[in-house]
Amino acid sequence: MIQIKPVPAKFTHVVRHPVLRPGKPIDTCIFEGDDLSSTKHFGLYFNEDLIGVISVFENKSSIFNHPNQLQIRGMAVLEKFQGKGYGRLLVNEVENYAKKVKSNLIWFNARENAAKFYKILGYEIYGSLFDIAGIGLHYVMYKQI
Ligand SMILES: CC(C)(COP(=O)(O)OP(=O)(O)OC[C@H]1O[C@@H](n2cnc3c(N)ncnc32)[C@H](O)[C@@H]1OP(=O)(O)O)[C@@H](O)C(=O)NCCC(=O)NCCS
Repeated sequence: MIQIKPVPAKFTHVVRHPVLRPGKPIDTCIFEGDDLSSTKHFGLYFNEDLIGVISVFENKSSIFNHPNQLQIRGMAVLEKFQGKGYGRLLVNEVENYAKKVKSNLIWFNARENAAKFYKILGYEIYGSLFDIAGIGLHYVMYKQI
């Protein structure tokens, strides 16, 4: 059974660590703002196991003019479960949340190799590739909701 539900920030580490920060200290899975009340974390459960996570921050990028912007961070599905549609479900969950809180723009820094995934979900690239030190090349991507 698949279920998506809000989870505390700390729960995300079990997926963030192997997928987004492999081989790095567990502390690197703590993101600034994780514990703010305006930040939401969603977990996708496969039966009892948390296998996918996505976090959404109230964070305005100076690139966009929209007043109520949300930033996705920490999007990850455990490797064994990738390519089965779970990432799409997590992004859909955040889009529904964005509508609920009347945000009309979602943006994030997308890893270069995940850009196609987000394009399939209707996100567009803004600008050129840039490097995030120690993590790799990224695009800013966004979608108006
Ligand atoms: C990127 C990621 C979150 C996608 O989640 P997922 O569960 O594997 O994706 P889904 O199965 O929901 O895929 C939805 C669609 O995107 C495609 N897709 C998924 N990942 C892709 C990728 N990296 N490149 C190209 N297409 C991809 C799927 O084939 C599917 O296409 P379809 O609808 O035409 O069949 C997941 O693969 C992951 O955690 N990757 C490693 C970490 C990462 O890069 N996170 C993003 C950081 S910005």
